[in-house]
Amino acid sequence: MRYVFKILTGALVTIIIVSCTREWDEIAISSPDYRLQLIFNLEYGGVPYYKLNRNGSPVIRKSALGFVLNEMDDLDSNFILADNKIGEFNETWEQPWGEVREIENKYHELTVFLKEKSGLERKLNITFRLYNDGLGFRYEFPEQDNLKEFQVIDEKTQFITKANENAWWIPAYRRERYEYVHKKTSLAEMDTVHTPLTIETKDGLYLCIHEAALYDYPSMTIFRTDTNILACDLVPWKNGIKAYVKTPFNSPWRTIAVGEKPADLITNYLILNLNDTSKIEDVSWIEPAKYIGIWWMMHLGISTWESGPKHGATTENAIKYIDFAAKHGIKGVLVEGWNQGWDREWLDDGRVFSFTEAYPDFNLEKVVEYANSKGVEIVGHHETYGAHLNYEDQMEDAYKYYHDLGIRYLKTGYVSDKLEKDEWHHGQAGVRHYQNTVEMAAKYRIMMDIHEPVKDCGLRRTWPNLMTREGARGMEYNVWGGEGGNAPSHVPVLVFTRMLASPMDYTPGIFEMMLPSRPNNQVNTTLAKQLAYYVVIYSPLQMAADLPENYEGNPAFKFIEDVVCDWEDTKALDGEIGEFVTIVRKDRNSNDWYLGSITNEEPRQLAYSLKFLDKDIQYIAQIYADGKDADWKTNPYSINIYDKIVTSKDSIQVYLAPGGGQAIRFVAEKVVEEEE
Ligand code: NOJ
Repeated sequence: MRYVFKILTGALVTIIIVSCTREWDEIAISSPDYRLQLIFNLEYGGVPYYKLNRNGSPVIRKSALGFVLNEMDDLDSNFILADNKIGEFNETWEQPWGEVREIENKYHELTVFLKEKSGLERKLNITFRLYNDGLGFRYEFPEQDNLKEFQVIDEKTQFITKANENAWWIPAYRRERYEYVHKKTSLAEMDTVHTPLTIETKDGLYLCIHEAALYDYPSMTIFRTDTNILACDLVPWKNGIKAYVKTPFNSPWRTIAVGEKPADLITNYLILNLNDTSKIEDVSWIEPAKYIGIWWMMHLGISTWESGPKHGATTENAIKYIDFAAKHGIKGVLVEGWNQGWDREWLDDGRVFSFTEAYPDFNLEKVVEYANSKGVEIVGHHETYGAHLNYEDQMEDAYKYYHDLGIRYLKTGYVSDKLEKDEWHHGQAGVRHYQNTVEMAAKYRIMMDIHEPVKDCGLRRTWPNLMTREGARGMEYNVWGGEGGNAPSHVPVLVFTRMLASPMDYTPGIFEMMLPSRPNNQVNTTLAKQLAYYVVIYSPLQMAADLPENYEGNPAFKFIEDVVCDWEDTKALDGEIGEFVTIVRKDRNSNDWYLGSITNEEPRQLAYSLKFLDKDIQYIAQIYADGKDADWKTNPYSINIYDKIVTSKDSIQVYLAPGGGQAIRFVAEKVVEEEE
């Protein structure tokens, strides 16, 4: 046997092909800045593997690729490398709305065209895109005679790290979907988990394993087969099959974001870049907005979703909320419990819901008309209780009904252990269903906020009407959740885990933290931290979740009135996972900047240079800081609100009380001469 070594070196990539009858091959590409290297191997027996190195040392060790199929030979060996293609790509694209306006999409790409050496001679291509800050790869099944329709029993993709690295994770296959408190353990102690999965490596890197462009395929959870061997575990249908596939088909991208510090992960746009450009041509109708809602009162138990003396969604109540929204410049009013079905044991059977019939004490037409007269919009609501087929039956009528009335925002919900009591929310059935809702909504020009969703994989780039989701323990857990609600460390963890997937409808802005109607519960933050959430937690639909009476007369509410939810730029200044984080964002429609900083139980004194501010502008910093005596547990309301004149040459001290935060609006005041 003779080994042939071919080395090609070019400006674009370095290719090393070690060839033996092309059943053994190695091809390497580097990231545009040459720091990351992706190595694809076809080993003896035609078995495919990949590796990811950073500056020559392993980030992901030799890891498997391929599939186990039902009633068919597996697609994981016996391959030859029929061909390969190497390319580069560099563009900057603009988000219609988002956390930044412009995103650079710059990568080197390798596609390997694999073909079985014998038997059915099936073809499987794998495309790798290597960015300066991470890797994405996907399987591409071309149309072919010997592989038309097939069933996936297992995807063999592995992510093999070094032993005993730390990870922040939530368990998969649990009844509360993604609504668990993240645990930090070594990988060796990790359960089967959802992604995004955030890992701190022994070399001091921060990784996030997730996926992009998840369509018509189950979501990937991560299963640990040995201390450091992480493998893809696809969420199955109830019959155990993981995916039903018809060629041509592309799998979602498997993604590994790489950062030198935790804050790098926050501004990593790998997931968005790996999604296709928008399928909605005219996006001018898609508008970020703040909203209030007939909502918190139900969670507090002051009102009910169901009809009766405490029914929350009455015409009268809606008018009060609309008046409040109009007075304070808030665009949307959410109304939950407006439609028939909540009375009849909805928690047992979501099939009772009607999405077009309102309760008699709620006149939707009149409410919408009144809202319009005040420049306010109603945010519609559809709770399905996981009866997604009942929902699909009514979906087009329901969306058309809203559209004809002029309702453009919609919150949906899927509270239930399983869809139709049968299928995981995150399996192929769920992925298909959520996508159906988004496409139907686009047809009727409706913007979506999905609660109990399937996790986001950057689909908002392709479907910009899919604005935000819940998909984690939100604010409501403070009222009725176990474990005393969300601990002060909860959001400082979410920012580095759940939030790496997409915007989140956390529903911030609770001002009455002691919850008089729930004497055993408390919202575990200071008041200033609630304000800081508007900057730290990115969502283009951002709720002011508390009751209007808790806002009236409180000077801190000015920050919620002022803060925007569509950004020109975002910078993560620093942070440690579960400890603290500080983020600054620039308004898309002015020169104003906003800062949000939050901490866990620990008080902190932080200092930042203001060099991110526009250079030639003098700003008034409107500061909402924890009082010196503030404490999330004993004194959450203590806040210092004051102004300070600053420019980009200044720096600021940011004090965070235990469980506290700080919010700052930097109002662009006037242009100043730059001193040399
Ligand atoms: C759970 C959602 O997260 C919450 O926002 C909603 O109020 C209830 N389901 C009822 O739909």
